Amino acid sequence: MRTEHPKMIKLSAYRLPDYLIEETHLTFELHESYALVHARLVMQRNPSLDTHLPPLVLDGQKLELIDINLNGERLSAMEYTVTDKHLTLQPTTIEFELDTTVRIEPQNNTELEGLYKSSGMFCTQCEAEGFRKITYYLDRPDVMSRFTTTIFADKQNYPILLSNGNPIAQGEDDDGRHWVTWEDPFKKPAYLFAVVAGDLWCVEDTFTTMSGREVALRIYVEPENIDKCQHAMNSLKKCMRWDEEKYGREYDLDIFMVVAVNDFNMGAMENKGLNIFNSSCVLAKAETATDAAHQRVESIVAHEYFHNWSGNRVTCRDWFQLSLKEGFTVFRDTQFSADMNSDVVKRIEDVSYLRTHQFAEDAGPMAHPVRPAEYMEISNFYTLTIYEKGAEVVRMLHTLLGEAVFRQGADLYFERHDGQAVTCDDFIAAMETVSGMDLTQFKLWYSQAGTPRLVITDSYDAATQTYCLQVKQSCPDTPDQTDKKPFVIPLRMALLSQQGQSLPLQLQGESIAMKGERVLAVTEAEQSFIFQKVTEQPLPSLLRSFSAPVIMEYNYSRDDLVFLLQHDTDGFNRWEAGQQLSLQVIEDVVGQLYETDEPMMDSRLVEVFTALLAQDDLDPAMLAEFLSLPSTGYIIEQYEQADPLAIHQAREYVSNQLAYALKEPMRVRYDALRKTSLETPYVAQASDIARRRLQNMLLAYLMRTNDLDILDECVDQFGVADNMTERLAALACLVNSPFTDEAQEALKRFAERFSEDPIVMDQWFSVQAAAVVPSGLERVTHLLEHPAFSIKNPNKVRAVIGAFSMQNTPNFHAEDGSGYAFLADKVIELDALNPQIAARIISPLTRWQRYDLHHQELMLVQLKRIKNSGELSADLFEVLEKSLV
Ligand code: PHE
Ligand code: ZN
Repeated sequence: MRTEHPKMIKLSAYRLPDYLIEETHLTFELHESYALVHARLVMQRNPSLDTHLPPLVLDGQKLELIDINLNGERLSAMEYTVTDKHLTLQPTTIEFELDTTVRIEPQNNTELEGLYKSSGMFCTQCEAEGFRKITYYLDRPDVMSRFTTTIFADKQNYPILLSNGNPIAQGEDDDGRHWVTWEDPFKKPAYLFAVVAGDLWCVEDTFTTMSGREVALRIYVEPENIDKCQHAMNSLKKCMRWDEEKYGREYDLDIFMVVAVNDFNMGAMENKGLNIFNSSCVLAKAETATDAAHQRVESIVAHEYFHNWSGNRVTCRDWFQLSLKEGFTVFRDTQFSADMNSDVVKRIEDVSYLRTHQFAEDAGPMAHPVRPAEYMEISNFYTLTIYEKGAEVVRMLHTLLGEAVFRQGADLYFERHDGQAVTCDDFIAAMETVSGMDLTQFKLWYSQAGTPRLVITDSYDAATQTYCLQVKQSCPDTPDQTDKKPFVIPLRMALLSQQGQSLPLQLQGESIAMKGERVLAVTEAEQSFIFQKVTEQPLPSLLRSFSAPVIMEYNYSRDDLVFLLQHDTDGFNRWEAGQQLSLQVIEDVVGQLYETDEPMMDSRLVEVFTALLAQDDLDPAMLAEFLSLPSTGYIIEQYEQADPLAIHQAREYVSNQLAYALKEPMRVRYDALRKTSLETPYVAQASDIARRRLQNMLLAYLMRTNDLDILDECVDQFGVADNMTERLAALACLVNSPFTDEAQEALKRFAERFSEDPIVMDQWFSVQAAAVVPSGLERVTHLLEHPAFSIKNPNKVRAVIGAFSMQNTPNFHAEDGSGYAFLADKVIELDALNPQIAARIISPLTRWQRYDLHHQELMLVQLKRIKNSGELSADLFEVLEKSLV
């Protein structure tokens, strides 16, 4: 067999498929040591092309071809060629049928792509290019086909046999095996195909759609998890209703199924009518899942459901268009979560995440546009840029067009392209049609990588009552891209009076003033906005609700920031002012720590936090956000060359100072919140979530004071909580404290109680892996030996190795390079098992350029060591190629 090397695939090389597959008839024979997959493909020459018949090149990997027939005639070995990636043959008629039988070994599939086994069940993962590991096929999203699937398996071990669409036939054989046939009436690309076979139980419900059709809803899980499905089911019903109300989208099949699997590379997958979920993204109940986990379940259930329209009914022409479905669907799930919870808190969470992680990606060697122009391995492009920045791009359209016009655009997009595989240009074209706007310049968001900078200055002239905002934009070079053109940047803003009221906004040339706030469209490299009839020197409130994914600079004084934190009428910008103030205070300390152990901290932070804590009418959710300091990751991103250890130390120092200074009011507030929690049964609803979040945040501050009385409180909260949110937060406090006996005892009790629940044990693992206490690496190496750990399970890898390298700053960035060497060892080990996970988990090392020279060098040594460690997967190869230039 000939081996083909990984090569760059380019958007510019896109060609229509030579052949189409009208019908796909699959039969799976599942056995313990192998599976046979028989495929009957009803094919034709693509009618959009001429009638000459080029060779048919099917994708296929890790398949053993057993039999092949063209139009019912067995092909001889001379009539086709097989490489490790393709099967090629010569059709002789415009329409033809191809039959193949292949043998695969799901039980040995550790990549978790294609057909594999997870905790005794069979399941599939096909996006993006996993279907080719199941059978020979045209595995590209613009080839859409009608699927019929029959599954044969042992009845005892696999009583449940599922695929897409509706079951149309079933039967039993004498040998203890049974079969079910499923038919999906909707054409779909192969990446949306799924099969599941297992001993599963299900929770059932129904949903009546807006046109009155009843849909059966089923969530399938392993029997022991049957009591953890209700939250996902409630979320599902809510998001189905929401999509009808907000977007006019109705579900189209009679059954909607969700299956939970323990071994899964990603969060979940939107297979038509048969979503497959990482069990950590679907199972949740009070005792085992935190509030954050409940909210994650709600949003991922919604995300996958929303894909039924934005992704499945209208899909992507090619994988360069991935953000067409992902950016739009993340935007939709974000809107949903905002409606279900608090929109400001949701925005704060999303922006924190984006600025810490996506901005880092955009500034690093893997930077790529929302619509990339080339890739080697598509699995490497399921990135924060495609998802989160892609969602920001859709959000900006929504801001520029307004809610109503945006909805018309979405309607038109779905109507025009239902049943098609389309491009980001088609999405924008629909928005252009309904708005009458020319979005040519806006589309630079799809083609230019990098995070734009906005530098804003202002001036006020009291004599003429004019106020001028000068806006400059630029975008740094990214790999293969220089000299970028100006973006269209929606700048939501207001001008605040000295009393904190928003002033009327009347631009020069306008005859009436706008009240409140407005959105300025920044389109040029340098641009001025002149406001008239401005009666006093205003304080600008800029980039409200983070109206564009940019880095904005405006020279606020610290007093301005204090004022905005207390008085801005935009909740998001209040928080942002606090973040910028805290950031400056921490940066001061970073500088001083090189000279002294006792830095001077700007007292304004303590003062304003004191004032906020005293404000009784402040929403606890907002207070919790205001009191949280920017993450270490975010602070690191603010430096050209960061010293991670100094930054960590400074952030700890400021946190400790705040804890001591605010101990009394924090204690009073904590006690009150804890009392309410003790008196209220757990409900995962916004107001209660806010209370617990504030309570836990205060506990974390208080524990910094090493007060024995608070230690008792913490141990008590750990022990008596009726929910994982309070229990886990208390555990994290203990594990990060100097009270090692109490911490060990709590860890022991936790493990005893939850040893049978792998998802809960993941939390136990990650709390320890992330603990910023001495000899963290030793502890992590120890955790890898724990019987509940498995390197083959991605959740475990993320819980231990991921948490250590992403959250444990002092230990991961240890001066001796031991943290980096550890990660490199694990990357090498993982690459042989699961390349997708190896290529993801390596990412902290790829950010080497962000750090000081000492850390850079240590990281580079490890990157090179991985590169020279032997034969690498295409996934890891691409990441290393790009990181080491
Ligand atoms: N398409 C999935 C989602 O975003 C993510 C995914 C990609 C899952 C690739 C598995 C493999 O919902
Ligand atoms: Zn998605």
